Amino acid sequence: MSWPPVEAYGELADDVGRVLITAEQIQDRVLELGRAISHDYADKNPLLVGVLKGVVIFMADLLRAITVPVETDFLAISSYTPDLRDQGVVRLVKDLEIPLTGRHVLFVEDVIDTGLTLSYLLGTLRARQPASLEVCVLFDKPDRRLIEIPLKYRGFQLPDSYVVGCGLDFHERYRNLPFVGLLKPEVLDAGDPAS
Ligand code: IMP
Ligand code: MG
Repeated sequence: MSWPPVEAYGELADDVGRVLITAEQIQDRVLELGRAISHDYADKNPLLVGVLKGVVIFMADLLRAITVPVETDFLAISSYTPDLRDQGVVRLVKDLEIPLTGRHVLFVEDVIDTGLTLSYLLGTLRARQPASLEVCVLFDKPDRRLIEIPLKYRGFQLPDSYVVGCGLDFHERYRNLPFVGLLKPEVLDAGDPAS
């Protein structure tokens, strides 16, 4: 499938100052990740776990790039207080439906920045005694990392800037852009367009 050209996204595309990774580059990389996962997890019936909502686009593409039997499940989180959020502590507002015990679990993430949220969630999942627990991330922003997390699969490394597209939002917008880009400074400064 080839997505509409950048200009077709009108006002959303106008807000993007620079495209960092094109839709085609993302598609190619997701195919490579799918190939590697299919190879490594053949006969393991892996369970791909993601956090709503940012990961849904990557998850949908990655699942279709995997050619061996695979299952998927989602959880949803919300932060308690700004303080606890800064420590990565989150509240599960929707838990997984599939038990993890004895399963080969691959945690799929759209982006890792400080790593705090992911580290907390991995701890929660590890307590459920999966047979294995690995991480696949589409965008890695290593500059602000506070906790080292082994990443078995990584799509792209990005600089320390706020990016949107391919599931990543700014006040819930831009998730639908098939490419990833930097917002113009004036758009970031303006904040929530709904308020
Ligand atoms: P961490 O705990 O700092 O690794 O934060 C990860 C979460 O912050 C991600 O799951 C995203 O929801 C959000 N996030 C981090 N960087 C970006 C970005 O550049 N654009 C949009 N969301 C981001
Ligand atoms: Mg996320």
